[in-house]
Amino acid sequence: MYRFAAMMAVVAGLAAAPAAAQDVGMGAEVFERCALCHDIGEGARNRQGPVLTGLFGRRAASVADFPYSPALREAGDGGLVWTAETVSDFIAKPRHFEPGTGMIFSGLKGEADIADVVAYIMTFQTPAQVELQLGQTLVETYCGACHAIGRDDASAHEAAPPFRTLDERYDVGDLEEGLVEGLVSGHPDMPEFAFEPEQAAAIVAYLRSLE
Ligand code: HEC
Ligand code: HEC
Repeated sequence: MYRFAAMMAVVAGLAAAPAAAQDVGMGAEVFERCALCHDIGEGARNRQGPVLTGLFGRRAASVADFPYSPALREAGDGGLVWTAETVSDFIAKPRHFEPGTGMIFSGLKGEADIADVVAYIMTFQTPAQVELQLGQTLVETYCGACHAIGRDDASAHEAAPPFRTLDERYDVGDLEEGLVEGLVSGHPDMPEFAFEPEQAAAIVAYLRSLE
């Protein structure tokens, strides 16, 4: 059975709010230091750093066309997903969290500054968008090797049904429990998965978005 220890630890932080009370207004001020290199919001572009719109639930180093460092790419391939927790750890000490990162920034010292800027970045996504983004990340990571996961792609494994067709046979909401308990398809090529409840909910949210 596949268990996703590293990824689960990361995802657990998704729901957890930062410890300190957050002040979005202060966060906007702190963000001015990030804005030297990062753009955020509608129409944002990659600059010296990648766009930060849609950050939460996204795999590290996954913005198209941004020349990430090999270190951050490797972390993304290894399952690093941006959550309130991982972003906080990263911006506190970028080179400690991810040795070899190309983000030349010494880090934010104050816990309040970190919580505030994370809260500010989060205002660019609704909780539903974060969940959907996480679901997409999980599906790309764990299912895309066999199943078609988009609207018009073909499954890499010919016996694996494209996800957009699942709802023709059943309510995809019924999969949620199976994804936690260990989803078994009866097919020898289909691995058995056991996700955390929030992960399962995110996967189902993504599958629903294909209907
Ligand atoms: C001097 C420019 C610079 C500053 C200032 C800076 N960053 Fe970055 N940031 C980068 C670069 C370059 C990368 C890509 C790093 C890599 O490829 O290793 C990056 C990557 C990131 C990532 C990972 C994004 C992804 O797509 O995986 C996050 C999150 C991030 N920065 C947040 C911040 C925040 C929040 C601040 C302010 C507190 C900040 N950065 C300040 C240049 C900067
Ligand atoms: C190594 C290949 C592989 C991977 C990875 C994989 N699957 Fe499958 N999956 C299959 C195959 C093959 C079938 C067809 C099983 C059958 O026909 O009985 C299947 C069937 C299914 C079914 C049942 C479809 C139906 O109509 O009954 C669901 C649901 C499913 N997979 C979900 C997932 C999810 C969610 C993931 C990722 C978390 C995933 N699979 C990852 C190969 C894979």
